[in-house]
Amino acid sequence: MAYFKILVMSIGSSFLLSACDNQIQEAEPVSSVTGLKDIYADYFPIGASLSPANLSGKDSSLIVTEFNSVTAENVMKPSPIQPEQNQFNWGPADAMVNFVEENGLKMRGHTLCWHNQVGDWMFENEEGGEVDKQTLLRRLKEHIQAVVGRYQDHIYAWDVVNEVIADEGEAWYRDSRWYQITGEEFIAKAFEYAHEADSNATLFYNDYNATNPDKMEKIVKMLTQLKEEGVPIHGMGLQGHWSIYYPSEAQLRTALETYKELGLEIQITELDISVYPGESGGRREKSADELDTFTEEMEQQQIAQYKMIFKVLRDYRDVITGVTFWNVSDAHSWLDNFPVKGRKNYPLLFDQNRERKKAYEAVIDF
Ligand code: XIL
Repeated sequence: MAYFKILVMSIGSSFLLSACDNQIQEAEPVSSVTGLKDIYADYFPIGASLSPANLSGKDSSLIVTEFNSVTAENVMKPSPIQPEQNQFNWGPADAMVNFVEENGLKMRGHTLCWHNQVGDWMFENEEGGEVDKQTLLRRLKEHIQAVVGRYQDHIYAWDVVNEVIADEGEAWYRDSRWYQITGEEFIAKAFEYAHEADSNATLFYNDYNATNPDKMEKIVKMLTQLKEEGVPIHGMGLQGHWSIYYPSEAQLRTALETYKELGLEIQITELDISVYPGESGGRREKSADELDTFTEEMEQQQIAQYKMIFKVLRDYRDVITGVTFWNVSDAHSWLDNFPVKGRKNYPLLFDQNRERKKAYEAVIDF
């Protein structure tokens, strides 16, 4: 594969020189030609979620080499950005936007309406009681207007509503405070407010376990209803917190086909491949045989899983408009503390020294 050869040739040197008619042409920085983003240039942008610590040092050069899209891992979520009503903490989010602009990257916004990482103030009145529906919807609108409005020239897509479908059992929607106060109304409203704030932004619903047949059925029912009502929703975000055991190729293809039929674009918004059984929401105990080591067997399974997943994603490039990893390298993953606190995980394409893993080679070998 041509790109792979360029990649190998360029490792260790800081500039690629191209010779033509015996003349040395302009030197091009290696960082701009030899990463995942270049190999996938004809398919979809490749992104990573970042924390403020990633913006400098070793991570920043890796990011600029490998990725052309960024998501804020936490700093644009409701409580980090508006910890108290009308008190905004713009600094960390602005710094990320500056990094994105300086390096010519795309940026996705994450997330406007979620049951986690949202301040209690959102749902409470001055006496500590629960606000009524009108008040909550007004606060949601004000939050969305402020955040989407501030970054409208910099963010091309937003995860507007995150994780509102219930996991198991009969329930359709998650029993969150949003749902308890407004019923399902907050969902359509969030999309409407986001569209009012930036009519150019691509607006996503985002969820985990979105290839799981039961949950998919409920998500599809909601998306269909929203589209029928004319709600401005443009995309389905599959988080992609998967594992070496899940999903199967058939499950993944079925899910992509199903969401595609809704006429929405699709993104994988938070990709990582856990080396342990169970996905998000899964088992929360560490089992006795888990030694916190990345075994040869896990490595082989992970290589095969990454290879399969990217093959399928390439097949759906007509509807997939982005693939984003959740975190940068195995040096730090949110899965080191979720769902089991302190259990080291190895879910990404770069190892703890930020070197490309064998799974990386499998992903670019096509
Ligand atoms: C996670 C972050 O990675 C953690 O740092 C934070 O403590 C909790 O949230 N689904 C989402 C993401 O939509 O926002 C979550 O991010 C991971 C699961």
